[in-house]
Amino acid sequence: MDKIYTQSLVSLRIDNTIQALRQSALERHIPVMDDQTLQYLLVYLSSLRPKKILEIGTAVGLSAAAMLTVCPDAHVTTIEIDEERYIEAKKNLSDLGFSDRVTCHLGDAGEILSMMDAKYDFVFLDGPKAQYPRYMPELKRMLDKGGVVFADDVLLFGWVSGQTPTPEKHKLFVKKMREYLQNLTEDKDFLTSVIDVGDGVAVSVKR
Ligand SMILES: C[S@@+](CC[C@H](N)C(=O)[O-])C[C@H]1O[C@@H](n2cnc3c(N)ncnc32)[C@H](O)[C@@H]1O
Repeated sequence: MDKIYTQSLVSLRIDNTIQALRQSALERHIPVMDDQTLQYLLVYLSSLRPKKILEIGTAVGLSAAAMLTVCPDAHVTTIEIDEERYIEAKKNLSDLGFSDRVTCHLGDAGEILSMMDAKYDFVFLDGPKAQYPRYMPELKRMLDKGGVVFADDVLLFGWVSGQTPTPEKHKLFVKKMREYLQNLTEDKDFLTSVIDVGDGVAVSVKR
């Protein structure tokens, strides 16, 4: 009930072009953030205004475009494994005028992260969910003090909390997500809050 009410209060103030591209992506079953989580991310970023953002999971570039819109001084580096989506993301971001503020990498995030040595002040983790625990040590290494990891879909469908039974084929995902949340909440180098917005978000600040 509360979710229906809070959903009705979402007022995304993003460019109509980005909204139209999101609608087109949804119609083609390309996974993009739900409105409520996107709203929360943009509120958070509008206050934090990070300058160096890393995104895992570009899809077709729409969350990257929205983040660039609310963080006018930011550069986004984003990683996508699917070549068709990577090509479409580059085109969308270029058409929106963001070419010089974004770096798109094509490939497996795990492999690319292990080769990166830049530092970031904000990470938007929205890639393959079962890989979150594997990515965390690399992200920790690349985060500045005070930097944030904003991980999406951490409670998916109530499976992770146990509120809804997990279908057999998704059990590994749930095990990995619980591992991710437990590691983070026990890690004394991070301050973490898990928030029941959209499909669940974990926000972790490096101390
Ligand atoms: C939920 S979508 C990202 C949505 C995007 N952040 C948005 O809201 O506009 C997750 C993306 O991660 C990509 N992905 C899956 N496995 C990956 C991997 N190992 N490395 C990099 N990207 C991966 C998928 O192809 C998919 O496009």
